[in-house]
Amino acid sequence: MKLGTFSSVLALASCTLAAPGTVKPLLKRNPSGSFSLVAYSLESSAIDIFYSDGIAYAGDSSKWTYGSVTTDVTFVIQDAEMITTATTSGVTLDSDTLFYIRPTADEVLPVGFTGNGVVTPSDAVSTNFIFYGTYLMWEYDDGSLSDSFRAKETNVTGVYELYYDFSNLYPSGYEIPVVKSSS
Ligand SMILES: *[C@@H]1O[C@H](CO)[C@@H](O)[C@H](O)[C@H]1NC(C)=O
Repeated sequence: MKLGTFSSVLALASCTLAAPGTVKPLLKRNPSGSFSLVAYSLESSAIDIFYSDGIAYAGDSSKWTYGSVTTDVTFVIQDAEMITTATTSGVTLDSDTLFYIRPTADEVLPVGFTGNGVVTPSDAVSTNFIFYGTYLMWEYDDGSLSDSFRAKETNVTGVYELYYDFSNLYPSGYEIPVVKSSS
């Protein structure tokens, strides 16, 4: 089951790379330097993943007025952890702010960020991230990969909360984004 969505990513990736002359091997490789994360297949073009009060959202952060701390972010990946930096003017995040998923079976749980005075759930895991091509994956201890991101539109059109569906339940009411690095 856990490889299900990954196969679909591979299928998608092979389509994306099918244009003659542009075939590049997809390899496990991490972006060097800082990058942003974008979500595909929610809107007609890619939308940015941003931070609001410890939770990951996708869309135009300026339209999300409900958070007390909301910012666009960039990431650096180091030792399989995604260190998160605020890029919206006037906002600073803790220097050790880490992106996390909650790999708990049979639940669909929000994706978020550690630190900044927001309680990190006890099942949050901020390590084991890796990129396959530009696709963000979470790696099991046995080396297999998962990419079970889900998204639910908030009450602001075009702004989505990001979730992880660790057991691939594909619950109704959630969309299936593809999460990639910008570089
Ligand atoms: C929209 O969602 C936010 C965050 O969950 C909530 O605080 C706000 O009250 C909601 N607004 C409306 C109009 O439902």
